[in-house]
Amino acid sequence: MVRLTIDGKVVEAKKGTSILHAAESVGIKIPTLCYIKDLLPDGSCRMCMVEIENRGRTKIETACTAQVAEGLVVTTNSEKVRNARRNVLDMLLSNHKTDCFSCRANGDCKLQDLCYEYGVSKTTYEGEKTDLPIDDSNPFFTYNPNLCILCHRCVNTCHKIVGRGAIDTMERGFDSAIGTPFHVDWIDTTCESCGNCVQACPTGALTMKRRTKYRPYQVDKKVLTTCPHCATGCQYY
Ligand code: FES
Repeated sequence: MVRLTIDGKVVEAKKGTSILHAAESVGIKIPTLCYIKDLLPDGSCRMCMVEIENRGRTKIETACTAQVAEGLVVTTNSEKVRNARRNVLDMLLSNHKTDCFSCRANGDCKLQDLCYEYGVSKTTYEGEKTDLPIDDSNPFFTYNPNLCILCHRCVNTCHKIVGRGAIDTMERGFDSAIGTPFHVDWIDTTCESCGNCVQACPTGALTMKRRTKYRPYQVDKKVLTTCPHCATGCQYY
């Protein structure tokens, strides 16, 4: 075990614990976008930045990837940290449409919530933006690459939680987007249309089609499949 200080609280944590988990253990919440509980951190969004003082030197690091060590002094919400997070949001918005009222995820978007919280309403950066066609080829969900922040939550969920590996990050730079390996049709991938990737998306990049046909909204529809995991059965159709 090691002892460190987070926002003035003395915390004891096992070696190898992330600063994010150590902070959570004492009720300190650090904002995240790409992090998924129980998976190795992706470290792609940089939203979880905190100030870490170690032997007189202070650095800004991501709390999901930095590990606890004896004597660290961590500050999770200083003005410096909040400015760094504002800059991350500013950069994310530099390649993200901000006409939220026309977005299906309006009101249910983690990026939108954080922008409100940090007072970032538009980007200060100028330049090119991703302008890729919307992929509507999957029968169950729509992918809008122009709203994607490339946090890889959907990819990590599909690969490491669902165990299918049906989607991945394709191409480079402004052409980077989520897609099927080798651009095969969805129907030819291992995708089970489980919806976990959509659930994992923190923005409106992945949205379900025909929401009203899903079980929570139409409980009286006929059961198509049942399996030993539950007695209710899947009602997607
Ligand atoms: Fe830590 Fe995304 S949550 S880098």
